[in-house]
Amino acid sequence: MRQLPPAVVRQALLRPSLVRAVQRLSAALGRAGSALQPPQARFLQLTGGVAPIMLMRAVVQTRLVEPLAQGPLTAEAIAGRLGLHADTVHRVLRGLAVYGLARLDRSGRFSLTSTGRLLLDDHQHTMAGWIRYMTSPMVIEGWSRLPESLHDGLPAFNAATGTTIWEHLAQHPDEEEGFARTMRELTLMAAPLIVAAYPWPEEGTVCDVGGGVGSMLAEVLRARPKLSGVLVDQAGPLAGAGEYLASRGVEARVTAVEGDLFKGFSAAADVYLLKDVLHDWDDDQCAQILRTVRAAAPSGARLLVLEWLQEPNRAEFPVSISDIMMLAQTEGRQRSAAEFAALAAGAGFAPGRVIDTGAYGIVELVAV
Ligand SMILES: C[S@@+](CC[C@H](N)C(=O)[O-])C[C@H]1O[C@@H](n2cnc3c(N)ncnc32)[C@H](O)[C@@H]1O
Repeated sequence: MRQLPPAVVRQALLRPSLVRAVQRLSAALGRAGSALQPPQARFLQLTGGVAPIMLMRAVVQTRLVEPLAQGPLTAEAIAGRLGLHADTVHRVLRGLAVYGLARLDRSGRFSLTSTGRLLLDDHQHTMAGWIRYMTSPMVIEGWSRLPESLHDGLPAFNAATGTTIWEHLAQHPDEEEGFARTMRELTLMAAPLIVAAYPWPEEGTVCDVGGGVGSMLAEVLRARPKLSGVLVDQAGPLAGAGEYLASRGVEARVTAVEGDLFKGFSAAADVYLLKDVLHDWDDDQCAQILRTVRAAAPSGARLLVLEWLQEPNRAEFPVSISDIMMLAQTEGRQRSAAEFAALAAGAGFAPGRVIDTGAYGIVELVAV
């Protein structure tokens, strides 16, 4: 049978309805598989959740699978190259194989599966930064305080540490860089769908507010060669932006503006983006951020809120888990399109289109 050309496959995979269908089928198959297990066995599996993520942490922290990039090796060979303990390398990689990220053959050689290849630091779609972040003390701290949050509703990280994650990151540049990398990895995953789903103008300016190093902005600019960009964020993330934007070939078209979501910034644009920004903040803070953007925006400009959308009574992966992540890490939550429109109305925005990209939602708001 002839294979479809990769460009055709890529195009098909950008269809939101197909992405949604695949997600729902996968969730249904997962539920069907769970239903086949006795409840205790299912709990054993669920409570073992710490195992895969901590195995992955051990792997990315030691760059354990980098030697497998070229092909299968024994644990002894890997340990020899990396100066590690051979028997432990075998046991950790065997554990990784249980989760389908590596393979172990009968002669004791390990290889990476196609999913496991995303553990490689220099893979195009690497998840190494995400794994480092999800297992960092900063994240674990927030998650471990969830029982108390149920009593007082306070954001877990803030209550546990007496600081916000933004203050924490500003004081820990290494972690700030790791966080920026994590966001970049997540954004690059969703960017093709977001870019394909929205009718971006051919010319004018797009301003990414709280845009990190500019990973979303860069993909929009790559798709529209005549557009210019403005990147607004704090000094830390902006410090890494120049190098990143240059690596995507759009540096010359972007102006970086140090600004504050609450105090204001100056950047006139046709389209503003807030990607995964509002979900970090409570309703009052979101209203203030929306007023800040409105103060910068000319009338008629569009603001696109790019987030996973959470309907209040719908349990769905990944959005409902991301919502708990926001509780553990920030003062925020995931919201529905209607909730965003209500918050934005008080800040001087009228509701526009709501587009389901299959992963992220695009909630369009028009400055009135
Ligand atoms: C969750 S990240 C999203 C980054 C980017 N939009 C993305 O999706 O890849 C939130 C961003 O908001 C920025 N941020 C947090 N507090 C801010 C503030 N007070 N003023 C400006 N930016 C802020 C952070 O530096 C970070 O880049």
